[in-house]
Amino acid sequence: MDETALGLRASANAFLSQYEPLTLVLTPVVGLLVAILLHFIIHFLLENGIKRSFVGLIMGAVKLVPGVNKYIEGEKQKVVDKLQSGIKCKRESWQTELPHIGLGREVIGRLTSQKEKDVNWQGRCSGTVYIGGHESEGHFLLTNEAYSMFSHTNPLHLDVFPSIAQFEGEVVAMTASLLGSKEEASGGQVCGNMTSGGTESILLAVKTTRDYMKIKKGIKKPEMVIPESAHSAYDKAAQYFNIKLWRVPVNEEFQADVKKIRRSINKNTIMIVGSAPGFPHGIIDPIEELGELALNFGICFHVDLCLGGFVLPFARKLGYPLPCFDFAVQGVTSISVDVHKYGLGPKGTSVVLYRNREIRKLACLAMTMYYI
Ligand SMILES: *Cc1c(COP(=O)(O)O)cnc(C)c1O
Ligand SMILES: *[C@@H]1O[C@H](CO)[C@@H](O)[C@H](O)[C@H]1NC(C)=O
Repeated sequence: MDETALGLRASANAFLSQYEPLTLVLTPVVGLLVAILLHFIIHFLLENGIKRSFVGLIMGAVKLVPGVNKYIEGEKQKVVDKLQSGIKCKRESWQTELPHIGLGREVIGRLTSQKEKDVNWQGRCSGTVYIGGHESEGHFLLTNEAYSMFSHTNPLHLDVFPSIAQFEGEVVAMTASLLGSKEEASGGQVCGNMTSGGTESILLAVKTTRDYMKIKKGIKKPEMVIPESAHSAYDKAAQYFNIKLWRVPVNEEFQADVKKIRRSINKNTIMIVGSAPGFPHGIIDPIEELGELALNFGICFHVDLCLGGFVLPFARKLGYPLPCFDFAVQGVTSISVDVHKYGLGPKGTSVVLYRNREIRKLACLAMTMYYI
């Protein structure tokens, strides 16, 4: 060993002898533990928001006080009991087995007496039934007669029922043309399908967007950013299709907060959402600004027109000052519209629209079946 090596070793020994060997071992271990703890805290804060985490922490601490948890559970049960006592039908009177002899027409009598227990909703249930007053009677007679002519059909077999394939195409085309499909800005390729309701339209739009963004940008851990006021269907979509959901607080006008949404976008974001209007407040989000945001980040943008799709186009025609809310806005990639709300169709009808066929094709499932 030469002089310099000896010198180095001596100074290393002098350095190490200042520390106990135990300390040397423990320092990195404790350091690692602290880092892991910090990682979890930061992750938790990001996931739940600072305010919510703080409230959660306090609630957790309060519940540790003896008796408090029991009290809270008791109060919760009271609310549940109160809700259930409001439901008028008694389970004891339910028929849970098929009758020995078929009821035949008698079944109508049963249905009629059961129906009497329903609340008189006429004009009183906003957000539940979308037509009221005496004009609803004639309307129901007409829609029910039309519905009964096709209630046995199966849209899977278009060779047997070409009529319903045409009806679906017509409903989709008419709805699309109310929502900008014929304007140049739409690109002239708007297409879509009928579904069983707003929730299904939203589920399909989100699923399709997820697959589209996987192909287009290679996003494998998809996330979406939606305003707090968006419908619960997006939570379902996030759970069903494995998408991380960020719900962002609304601004003071209860509109989607564009700045906050921008801050939540990252490289895994596949889409943002705006409603026109949203279900809880009936307020229209700034669709044009959100469209620009989506374009700038190269992500998709779904406009929830479930409630407004058959109102806003007519309000605009009547001259009410309305900002753009449909495919005329460049960044909009998909739209949901409920026929069974202000389209006044029977329950179980909605439309999902896509800006072009490239996105729409991912809505379909192709599968080869072998019959043995
Ligand atoms: C009603 C509604 C939905 C969901 O529609 P369903 O037909 O109830 O499934 C989604 N978004 C908005 C804004 C709605 O009003
Ligand atoms: C709806 O979806 C089917 C595929 O499931 C498709 O063949 C049809 O053309 C679609 N569009 C319309 C407008 O019916």
